[in-house]
Amino acid sequence: MSELVVALDYKNADDALAMARMVSGTAPWVKVGLELFCAEGPQIVSRLKDLDFKVFVDLKFFDIPNTVKGAVRSATRAGADMLSLHALGGERMAVAAREGRAEAAGGEKGPLLMAITILTSMSAEDLPFPVPGGLGESVLDLALATSQAGLDGVVCSGLEVESIKAKCGNDFLCLTPGIRPASVSDDQRRVVTPAQAVRSGSNFLVVGRPITGADDPEQAASAIIRDMKT
Ligand code: C5P
Repeated sequence: MSELVVALDYKNADDALAMARMVSGTAPWVKVGLELFCAEGPQIVSRLKDLDFKVFVDLKFFDIPNTVKGAVRSATRAGADMLSLHALGGERMAVAAREGRAEAAGGEKGPLLMAITILTSMSAEDLPFPVPGGLGESVLDLALATSQAGLDGVVCSGLEVESIKAKCGNDFLCLTPGIRPASVSDDQRRVVTPAQAVRSGSNFLVVGRPITGADDPEQAASAIIRDMKT
């Protein structure tokens, strides 16, 4: 089953909470990114949980293992249900993240730990280094390393889900930003429609501007849910 995650890319809590209320009957998850978290701090997570959302704290951790361990510990204590970190941080960073989660979760499972492979806003030409096997191969290598390090899944494009599941197993989770209804074109590059993402096996579809920038966000979220079911 695929679940919708609405990206709350806002500069303050009032705007984010207003949007959250508009989609609360439609989407089970919201995502707090760098802009909102830097403005409002960890309290925004509990305020969104009070509205009965599951909360993805998307801060894309990438640092030395000890620092990431502490960051994951703090974000777990803040109530995150899902966290992101960079797959490029390697195995020791991933293991440290798991340790930080275990320390803070106190016997509970704690948040899902999802590793960013290559941002969906990037195509091969945007990378500052050559990828002779193609960008898809690099995404696959990063996904395999993530699964071997014992994390829960990866953040990738809907174009890559099938090959990742084939290599890492169906239980390995895939979260896909870069979801666009057929008509929209912007800074995202490796995009798929909601229906394509679901068909590929994506577990979580992250959608921001197609919902938050719509004249009627509730209706836009409902249309995406309908498309996910086709
Ligand atoms: O507005 P849009 O639908 O492009 O929002 C996508 C969201 O997903 C943004 O908050 C962005 O930061 C996030 N994201 C992404 N690519 C990743 C990881 C997260 O676009 N690889």
